[in-house]
Amino acid sequence: MTVPTPRPRVFINFASSLDGKINPAPGRRSGRFMMSRQREDLRRMFALRGTADAILIGASNLRVDDPDLAIPADEHAARRARSQPEPLRVVVTSSADGITPEMKIFDPERGGPSIVVHTARMPAEARARLAPVAELVELGAVTVEMNDLLAWLAGRGVRTLLCEGGGDLCAQLFGARAVDEIYLTLAPRILGGARAPSMVDGTGFAPDEIPNPRLASVEQVGDELFLRYEVSWPG
Ligand SMILES: NC(=O)c1ccc[n+]([C@@H]2O[C@H](COP(=O)([O-])OP(=O)(O)OC[C@H]3O[C@@H](n4cnc5c(N)ncnc54)[C@H](OP(=O)(O)O)[C@@H]3O)[C@@H](O)[C@H]2O)c1
Repeated sequence: MTVPTPRPRVFINFASSLDGKINPAPGRRSGRFMMSRQREDLRRMFALRGTADAILIGASNLRVDDPDLAIPADEHAARRARSQPEPLRVVVTSSADGITPEMKIFDPERGGPSIVVHTARMPAEARARLAPVAELVELGAVTVEMNDLLAWLAGRGVRTLLCEGGGDLCAQLFGARAVDEIYLTLAPRILGGARAPSMVDGTGFAPDEIPNPRLASVEQVGDELFLRYEVSWPG
């Protein structure tokens, strides 16, 4: 009998347009872009971050948006005062191309410990560049296998993992049958663009592999919907 590898409970959080996009098409965006135009989405994002032991993103998300993956400043200060840990901030990359120490995810004043999970392909120059600002964890030769990543995080004491994207990383988590909950903000916007990213990209699922999440709650705030889905993986 195969013993399943322990993994954290994984939830993902996205804001999507009505046409299922999570960012304008490549070349269509200059500067900052927020899918939601309401404070409620940010409030919920912070609340979710506060429940996570670690927050995970893909390197493209980091390169495009430079998120800090922080909890609100007052909670950050309160946790520091109580010596209470903050969520680990984790980025996964093969070679860390375009990832620089100035990025907000590495700023210790903004959030918890920073971790770069990378492959053997990461060159020495990138290791030297990022070692002063992050813990470097090598997992895999060409790509980081999701099961290895999740097992490593579990071993590090992570019981709840929030993935904030992007679509490439999320596709792999679904492919590994490792998403338990989806928080989706549906914003009444139409972004268009065949190449605009969506919540789950990758190569797609065959009909017999398609995950079928269960709608657990719907809330309307203004003209946006806040949806929560639960995913179960039978068998
Ligand atoms: N609306 C929203 O809620 C929301 C949320 C998040 C993101 N976004 C958008 O999503 C877009 C980014 O998504 P994306 O699908 O393009 O990319 P992504 O999933 O953020 O990142 C893909 C990159 O992550 C690294 N990576 C992923 N899996 C890996 C593995 N198994 N092993 C090693 N490295 C791995 C690779 O980086 P390297 O190339 O460095 O190897 C890969 O190129 C951005 O446009 C962002 O604005 C929107």
